[in-house]
Amino acid sequence: MNIPPASIIKHPNTSLIGKSILFYPSIPSTMDIARKMVNEGTKEGTVIVAGEQTSGRGRLERRWLSPPGTSLSLSIILRPALKILPQLNMAATLAVVQSVERITSLKPVIKWPNDVLIDGKKLSGILIDSIFQGNELKAAIIGIGINVKLNPSAFPDISNIATSLSVEMNREVSRRDVLYSLVEELDNIYQGLALGEPIYEKWLKKLETLGKMVKVKWRDTIEEGYVESVNADGSLVLKRHDGSLITMVAGEVTLHI
Ligand code: BTN
Repeated sequence: MNIPPASIIKHPNTSLIGKSILFYPSIPSTMDIARKMVNEGTKEGTVIVAGEQTSGRGRLERRWLSPPGTSLSLSIILRPALKILPQLNMAATLAVVQSVERITSLKPVIKWPNDVLIDGKKLSGILIDSIFQGNELKAAIIGIGINVKLNPSAFPDISNIATSLSVEMNREVSRRDVLYSLVEELDNIYQGLALGEPIYEKWLKKLETLGKMVKVKWRDTIEEGYVESVNADGSLVLKRHDGSLITMVAGEVTLHI
């Protein structure tokens, strides 16, 4: 795949993430471009934004709808220490929540492991690709999709389960404003993580999944039960109906509530 020409967006006030923002009007998926750039040695903190994705992907082989001008769809290239990798899910979901709170009056919550909801409807989803060379973590690509101007009622598949910032605010919301506040929030959180600052407590306050009855697709089975706790590494502890406990790592599951 050849990387198409991009325009460079003026970068906001950040120290690492967003120093370089590349905008592509229409591409299959920002994840593919980011992966190619990782292999070419592109700098940590580079953000790849799409005006439209023609094959946007979600977790577990799902699609992510990003028709022109509707969703903020981006990937961020990071080169974190291995010990930080498990916390990237928490960092990204928290950054989405904080950025939405900063530019709107909305109060989004996190549905474990990596969705952001408003009134039970999906506003944003996050996908993280880790790229290893042998045992060494070469890079992590954080893919974030936020429904900014999407009108879910135009898409029967998601009309009952998705929402967007403009629908919730009943006004236009600018994708550029969301982009800037998002990279600034994530930049702050990521710098803190690198210095060993904990984010677990802050993240837990925004998590709506604790204490709920859930069904979880875990490896080849479906586990059902009560969410007893979520550990500091982001793993979820489920109490089955027979009273036994199972711990599930965020990277490997789907959660149905
Ligand atoms: C999910 O909810 O399953 C995750 C959705 C992730 C979507 C984003 S949009 C930007 C990046 N490029 C993609 O193709 N997917 C992620």
